[in-house]
Amino acid sequence: MLKEKIVREIRKKGFITFDRFVEICLYDEEFGYYTKKRIGTYLGEDFVTAPEVSESFGKTVANYLEKRTLELSLPLKILELGGGKGFLAKDIVETLNPESYTILEVRKKPEWLKGINWVKSLKEVEPFEGVVISNEFFDAFPFKRIKKLNGELREVVVREKNGELYEDTVPFRGEIPCEIEEENEYCLFVGWKEFLKELFQKLKRGLFLTFDYGGKCREISGRKSFRAFRENRLVEDYLNYPGEADLTALVNFDYLSSALERAGFTVERLTHQSSFLLENGIEKFLEPGEVPQALMLLVDMGRKFKVLEATKVHSR
Ligand SMILES: C[S@@+](CC[C@H](N)C(=O)[O-])C[C@H]1O[C@@H](n2cnc3c(N)ncnc32)[C@H](O)[C@@H]1O
Repeated sequence: MLKEKIVREIRKKGFITFDRFVEICLYDEEFGYYTKKRIGTYLGEDFVTAPEVSESFGKTVANYLEKRTLELSLPLKILELGGGKGFLAKDIVETLNPESYTILEVRKKPEWLKGINWVKSLKEVEPFEGVVISNEFFDAFPFKRIKKLNGELREVVVREKNGELYEDTVPFRGEIPCEIEEENEYCLFVGWKEFLKELFQKLKRGLFLTFDYGGKCREISGRKSFRAFRENRLVEDYLNYPGEADLTALVNFDYLSSALERAGFTVERLTHQSSFLLENGIEKFLEPGEVPQALMLLVDMGRKFKVLEATKVHSR
């Protein structure tokens, strides 16, 4: 079981950092949440994503990609990061019939998904001109939890006693990109910078579009960023069942923008998902009767989710 694996690792090291805990829980090859639990075509086990809510999401995105690739004279070659169960891919391929569509995803390709290349690592992607798209990808990276306690930054670690896991903190030596108040917590995603640097090498020229929940520093600081979801409910006792819950945090779009710029991209625009979908004609793609779906995409998710667009205009 995953808990025993974690306990063994902690016994060797004394504790594990929270990002290591998230990495094991989500991506352990045998028992990880994404690698083993959230597979198949079954919808909404612990949460529902926008492409799973309604086909109108993917069709609206496709409509936008058609317009933008024409404006930027880009070929319709698409790389989707963390494509999950393939719903967004299916809807974009059916609408646009692109030259190629590749999904980068650590878990297994769903058998029903046709006409799509599937890779597990960016290393397998040949340099290309086109589009990079993702939904809820950057929030699925491992993250540290940094707290301010008595004026000092400390990071959450996981220890064990008699086989049971518990949280503790140790001094944090690094920096965080937002100011936080006493007793507040900041979630620092690990690995974005390295990933975006490699992505910049693979994308010779193109458009980058990502959807995720979160906001700028001032919008997310003070809010509870770290959350664990199980069976569509927020849970507090996630240490009791590692690998069984989704562990996630709000995306800091200031930090993501600066990581993109540092990698070489030009950040074009950050907007609400609701504005993006309305500007790009979601009403044309909603089926009659899809009122709850429209409300979910435009109201519930619409303000919480943002869309960040960047470009790489000159090939380097
Ligand atoms: C929250 S899910 C979103 C899935 C899908 N985009 C959707 O909207 O339904 C995040 C996905 O990203 C994948 N993922 C996260 N980090 C990855 C990485 N570095 N390489 C490949 N896949 C990754 C996970 O396996 C997971 O399927």
